[in-house]
Amino acid sequence: MARLLVTGGAGYIGAHTMVELLAAGHNVICLDNFSNSVPEAVARVQQIAGRAVTLAIGDVRDDALLRRLLAEHPIDAVIHFAALKAVGESVARPLDYYDNNVYGTLVLLRAMAAAGVKRIVFSSSATVYGAPEQLPLTEGAPVRTTNPYGASKAMVEQMLRDLCAADPEWSAVSLRYFNPIGAHASGRIGEDPRDTPNNLFPYVTQVAVGKRERLSIWGNDWPTPDGTGVRDYLHVVDLAAGHLRAVDYSAAHQGFMPINLGTGRGTSVLELVRAFESATGIAIPHSFAPRRPGDIAACWADPSLAARLLGWRAERSVEQACADGWRWQQHNPEGYRAGK
Ligand code: NAD
Ligand code: UFG
Repeated sequence: MARLLVTGGAGYIGAHTMVELLAAGHNVICLDNFSNSVPEAVARVQQIAGRAVTLAIGDVRDDALLRRLLAEHPIDAVIHFAALKAVGESVARPLDYYDNNVYGTLVLLRAMAAAGVKRIVFSSSATVYGAPEQLPLTEGAPVRTTNPYGASKAMVEQMLRDLCAADPEWSAVSLRYFNPIGAHASGRIGEDPRDTPNNLFPYVTQVAVGKRERLSIWGNDWPTPDGTGVRDYLHVVDLAAGHLRAVDYSAAHQGFMPINLGTGRGTSVLELVRAFESATGIAIPHSFAPRRPGDIAACWADPSLAARLLGWRAERSVEQACADGWRWQQHNPEGYRAGK
């Protein structure tokens, strides 16, 4: 069993991943500054797993803290989720994104190197591909970002590639997530956006619970079968399981390896709305609005490398994700902040 440092573990994907890591017997130290999450998420992870997490409250940019943590705990590998993630905000405040996401990772990597910890699983994103020329997207597709958030992910990938080239003892698995949705089947942890959700799925669940009146669908004139945008939505618990496989893989393989995590299937906005309606029995009022600036028509993964290298495949359907995401939203209409 490994001892893992999980940065950003209190966030949406981190919390689901910590549950899977604990269930598999790993020991988890979570470092989070709670800039986009709350301690209650960690409390619930521990309840679900029936095991404790060691919590360190702090920032990945705090060099002294990182060095202390890595000196005090014999860490085998790091899973690095901590980052800012809103595309629009990154356009408005690019330096915050380079500071948190790029500089933060640099501080982390330096502290890891100093402690002799040379295994990292990094949260990258399908956004590094920009507007795809060919679908499905393979890892060989060009990296061409279109906003500072995406650029910050591509820059970190470059740092990891260079680091692995300089020191063959390093292992860096960069997981390029497609669109994670849904929640843990318990309904106890889930996505908890601070403000109006930018992403489709949390917006849909907030309409369902009555917090928002109707969904605006950004464009019905895309070159897709029904005119609405197509994405590769994967259940967050499947995504969490992918991290478990990546940690194991990194124990046995050195070098830099970018790996897509997606289902390989595209789902349109209208199809997702219908799947939600049929999984929950709740109608989602919606209307069409102009395209959102910066959006792309369609994006889905070729997940065959993940199957080959990690033995990982997404197992849960979009309907399952809808049912699970709704359970979370219904039982926690105000997210974690209601503090139950
Ligand atoms: P999230 O905001 O829910 O989680 C990020 C966590 O990191 C939060 O708990 C936040 O408090 C913490 N954090 C942020 N900056 C920190 C810092 N400097 N020091 C310590 N903690 C810090 O986001 P998420 O959806 O769980 O995403 C996790 C990772 O996956 C991010 O790197 C994100 O860019 C990436 N990603 C997310 C998606 C998505 O759709 N959710 C898609 C692709 C990639
Ligand atoms: N959409 C709507 N109405 C909404 C929100 C979204 O119609 O209120 C549509 C979008 O136009 C798009 C689809 O729903 O066609 C999905 O949009 P999301 O914002 O949920 O997801 P994106 O694929 O646009 O972006 C997400 C993350 C990015 C990440 C990217 C690739 O927000 O950070 O996935 O991983 F880079």
